[in-house]
Amino acid sequence: MISIENVVKTYANGDINLTALKGVSLHIERGEFTSIMGPSGCGKSTLMNILGCLDKMSLGRYILNSKDVSNLTDDELAFIRNKELGFIFQSFNLLPRMTVLENVVLPMIYAGIAPQERRKKALEALEKVNLTDRIKHKPNEISGGQKQRVAIARAIANNPAVILADEPTGNLDTQVTLEIMKILQQLNNEGATILMVTHEPDVAKYTKRIVKLRDGLIISDSKVEDRVVL
Ligand SMILES: Nc1ncnc2c1ncn2[C@@H]1O[C@H](COP(=O)(O)OP(=O)(O)O)[C@@H](O)[C@H]1O
Ligand SMILES: [Mg+2]
Repeated sequence: MISIENVVKTYANGDINLTALKGVSLHIERGEFTSIMGPSGCGKSTLMNILGCLDKMSLGRYILNSKDVSNLTDDELAFIRNKELGFIFQSFNLLPRMTVLENVVLPMIYAGIAPQERRKKALEALEKVNLTDRIKHKPNEISGGQKQRVAIARAIANNPAVILADEPTGNLDTQVTLEIMKILQQLNNEGATILMVTHEPDVAKYTKRIVKLRDGLIISDSKVEDRVVL
């Protein structure tokens, strides 16, 4: 589903170049549920931004869902992003003036899905995260856990090839973290391919594979032997 080879990312800040990824290769099959771990500044978000077609790599090759997306224009990347990827962020990134339902529908407007179809898909996604009774609320009228469930519904509604989550439980307490991880495990059981950044081993143990980064390189990649199913 995802295949990257020797990805290098260098940020240029004035005279100083900082190489955040120093040659990263990673292969993710359909149906995997993988954690990306590592200390602050090791390149986790940089990697997610490249995999999410939000940023371009400096060198390397990226195949997403059988398409080479290594050298696309910004417009082409935006199209791929809408069609193939679902995003979940630590800070939810919901639009405050829109209702829960409108937040879930919005990316499908950009993706060119017809109005009836996108409403149907949004309602189905909101049902999966058990939020059918909150669709007319605004984000400031629901809890943090509910906000993240809205963000999950938004990410899955258009049936993306891959769901990318950057510290999805970083702002949530233990109880709500379990709720979110249970939903992600259920989606994975139904076939979703999920890639999640976390710095917490307690969260990574709910996934199937852990890839560890350090200083811009992968230093380990292993199956979670004692995975906890919620
Ligand atoms: N837009 C940017 N411009 C310059 N340097 C950046 C930028 N984004 C990240 N970096 C640097 O790249 C390195 C990796 O950052 P990041 O991918 O955010 O790490 P992590 O998510 O693992 O904490 C850090 O040294 C960070 O300061
Ligand atoms: Mg980060």
